[in-house]
Amino acid sequence: MRADPASAAAPSQEPSGRYRRPAKEAILLVGGKGSRLRPLTVHTPKPMIPAAGVPFLTHQLARARAAGVEHVVMATSYLAEVFEPHFGDGSALGLHLEYVTETEPLGTGGALRNVAHRLTSSPDEPVLVFNGDILTGLDIAALVATHRATGADVSLHLTRVDDPRAFGLVPTDPVGRVTAFLEKPQTPEEIVTDQVNAGAYVFTRSVLDTIPAGRPVSVERETFPGLLAAGAHLQGMVDSTYWLDLGTPQAFVRGSADLVLGRAPSPAVPGRRGERLVLPGARVAEDAKLFGGTCVGAGAVIGPGARVEGSTVLAGAVIEADAVVRDSLVGQDAHVGRRTVLQGAVVGDGAHVGADNEFLDGARVWCAARIPQAAVRFSSDQ
Ligand code: GDD
Ligand code: MG
Repeated sequence: MRADPASAAAPSQEPSGRYRRPAKEAILLVGGKGSRLRPLTVHTPKPMIPAAGVPFLTHQLARARAAGVEHVVMATSYLAEVFEPHFGDGSALGLHLEYVTETEPLGTGGALRNVAHRLTSSPDEPVLVFNGDILTGLDIAALVATHRATGADVSLHLTRVDDPRAFGLVPTDPVGRVTAFLEKPQTPEEIVTDQVNAGAYVFTRSVLDTIPAGRPVSVERETFPGLLAAGAHLQGMVDSTYWLDLGTPQAFVRGSADLVLGRAPSPAVPGRRGERLVLPGARVAEDAKLFGGTCVGAGAVIGPGARVEGSTVLAGAVIEADAVVRDSLVGQDAHVGRRTVLQGAVVGDGAHVGADNEFLDGARVWCAARIPQAAVRFSSDQ
């Protein structure tokens, strides 16, 4: 175990109390293309899509701040130019924010190496790293405490999922030490555990400097397996708290609704938790029904008799009378006509869906598309 100057800190009732000094710096990986979320990510990078009324990243930043983080470096690439105008120097969130843009995408590991020079932590200090699309109740301080207590080189938040194939598999030994890292297993034999990488790490600062510079590196496919092969100590912390990767439209809509309902914790939801969150400037007809964690953005309009359940309606969108919108996302300034039914669907920014259409599971209407009245049905009803 590493010598820890925190041992002189105030005594705590908790066994791990001496390790509960927060990590002061974090890197946020926000450069991915968000391909699985298209058309939502055509104009907006994934972390900037509003969830529960604010760009999703706001929730992650606010949670990091609440855990004691003071300085965040954003590793940007795709649509990099939109982050800084919104978050600026971070002072509105009580953070010092910096932005580093890759001239070409460097992958998750390359991005870390590329921003490491902006950190001020000493080589043996812990630095947090977050994937920019994870909604979770992770006890960030506990992950840092685990890292300090075990003296690990890298500590990883792990979660259990029913189908681990879309994730990084991370088997551990009985004391939680990582024994392998298998990113997106291709064969059934590789599925050796239901524990997956949950997308939050603590790196001992000096370990970041060992990642090769100036070329794309995947932290999952190269750095973690390489560290394990070299005998480094990777520690896993499994928990069963709320966890969702918002990489698909269905997950994104679910995550936003869970924030509104209060199932997913965030200090940044702009209003009270409940069935609905209606942002100032939205107009909702008196007999419209909004529930299941629906969020209605500023300037949006919900017509009479409309039912909007578990859905996200972005700023300036219009849902006309008697439309039914369930588990769906309606993009900025998009239009959903009378009696149209959306269920598990996405309507891109500025799209116009005429009356009496029906879009079900997984349908994606592209940005600015125009769908005439009664043009698309999934059923043969008259
Ligand atoms: N700066 C930068 N540059 N960021 C990047 C790049 C890049 O080239 N590529 C990806 N990112 C960012 C994304 O924006 C995202 O926040 C994060 O890195 C992870 O990328 P995803 O594209 O979301 O990966 P994933 O969901 O398929 O898999 C990752 O997350 C899983 C948990 O949700 C992996 O880390 C898996 O191991 C993990 O289980
Ligand atoms: Mg992801």
